Amino acid sequence: MTNAKRIILSSDHGAIELRQAIATHVAERGWTVEDIGPTTTESTNYPEHGAAAARRVAAGEFQFGIILCGTGQGIMMSANKIEGIRCGVCSDTFSAKMIRAHNDANMLALGARVLGPSLAIEIVDAFLDASFEGGRHATRVDMIKALEAERT
Ligand code: RB5
Repeated sequence: MTNAKRIILSSDHGAIELRQAIATHVAERGWTVEDIGPTTTESTNYPEHGAAAARRVAAGEFQFGIILCGTGQGIMMSANKIEGIRCGVCSDTFSAKMIRAHNDANMLALGARVLGPSLAIEIVDAFLDASFEGGRHATRVDMIKALEAERT
């Protein structure tokens, strides 16, 4: 089964409403969306949710993942601990485009306490509409991948 146009979303308790709005938007764009929650605002821990989505992207189930917490920072740091994940936290559309074009990011992190919903959706669109440029950027992404070997 191909993972093309399949996307997974998760967040902590601080980003549920924005995550659900993004899930609806991405589905309307024709993507198959799996939103793994949570669904209640009970306090929870962003590393668990970031890792849960990241593991499934790294396993090849999904083309991309979008993860959210208050700032986007903690959940991004957590996802990047999973081998094969390249996740950037973005608060502007240019960065969202460039993490695809130059860094071949497979996950996007957003901060629900940083962004309004309209800008968040523009950032998601910039990420999804961009393509990896390869070439010299592939060499650099390979260097990122090589750094993972130092962890063992
Ligand atoms: C939770 O209070 C908050 O720390 C979390 O959502 C996030 O901002 C962490 O990076």
